[in-house]
Amino acid sequence: MRITIFGGGGFIGSTIADRLLNDGHILRIFERPRVEPYRTFLAHERVEWITGDFFSMHDVTDAIEGADIVFHLVSTTLPKSSNDDPVYDVQSNVISTLQMLNAMVAHKVSRIVFISSGGTVYGDPVYLPIDEKHPTDPHVSYGITKLAIEKYLLMYARLYGIKPVILRVANPFGERQRVETAQGAVGVFISQALRGKKIEIWGDGSVTRDFIYIGDVAEAFAKAATYLGTHHVFNISSGSGTSLNELVQTLEDVLDAPVNREYKAGRGFDVPVSILCNKLAQKELGWAPAVRMREGIARTAEWMRLDILK
Ligand SMILES: NC(=O)c1ccc[n+]([C@@H]2O[C@H](COP(=O)([O-])OP(=O)(O)OC[C@H]3O[C@@H](n4cnc5c(N)ncnc54)[C@H](O)[C@@H]3O)[C@@H](O)[C@H]2O)c1
Repeated sequence: MRITIFGGGGFIGSTIADRLLNDGHILRIFERPRVEPYRTFLAHERVEWITGDFFSMHDVTDAIEGADIVFHLVSTTLPKSSNDDPVYDVQSNVISTLQMLNAMVAHKVSRIVFISSGGTVYGDPVYLPIDEKHPTDPHVSYGITKLAIEKYLLMYARLYGIKPVILRVANPFGERQRVETAQGAVGVFISQALRGKKIEIWGDGSVTRDFIYIGDVAEAFAKAATYLGTHHVFNISSGSGTSLNELVQTLEDVLDAPVNREYKAGRGFDVPVSILCNKLAQKELGWAPAVRMREGIARTAEWMRLDILK
């Protein structure tokens, strides 16, 4: 298949791209100007790297022309800072996605896989594990715009026959995770520990998240590309919870060394527990997480040693 990946040079997008190349798909990766390819592609890998602005209808139209399916991974905001400027969040994420959907309709591109956020769209859990039918009540603008985009995808499905698959990804971690944006406790914790620096934990360390290894996330996207069933929304998660204290403990085990930590005041917008049920994805996509937390942390730490701290 010919697949356009918006944001395909980032942490999640690049891992998905590599996974899709393994299946022999033909990729067009759309990135911001000045973002360099994340690796050298091999002669047999069919990849077109193009740059532009996701806000530009012209750039987006060029990017989707001739594609069988679009993967949408662009986000201009992060959960922790999105409440600072909700207007920007809506303008840059919702409006630009609607422009892209209009371009898809005009150019007869009918399939899309969108990455949503399992960690923010639900808000405080009413029950655990959270399945796709759980109420949605995001605490942050980032979650609200993800949800708005989900709803527009479903509206475009009804109006124009677009076929969306929405993957609500829990808390991904792994190789190529960015630590400078401080999104993702696992990446930040490992990098601090490897640098011999103190890890800052917001709250008492009981905050619990559903961490999922990036290779497993990419596998789910590869399955979503060819999904022909009738469901649209799937949680992509490990299905089990790990507290920040347990995470630090596992990190100490993997590194075989004590890790310095400091507890700070909790952040109001952090939901205390997030554990997502992944049974629907297992049944419908034929997907299951395969890499356990400890193994994923070991792989990530090894990559950081070689790639970041060299
Ligand atoms: N990292 C997480 O914890 C997590 C969890 C769930 C969902 N997501 C979602 O996954 C997606 C990818 O996240 P990531 O962690 O890989 O982030 P990332 O920053 O590594 O990747 C995003 C990519 O999108 C590109 N991009 C951003 N704005 C653009 C624009 N205007 N035009 C063209 N390209 C643009 C960036 O250059 C970057 O390479 C985002 O939509 C994010 O909301 C992330």
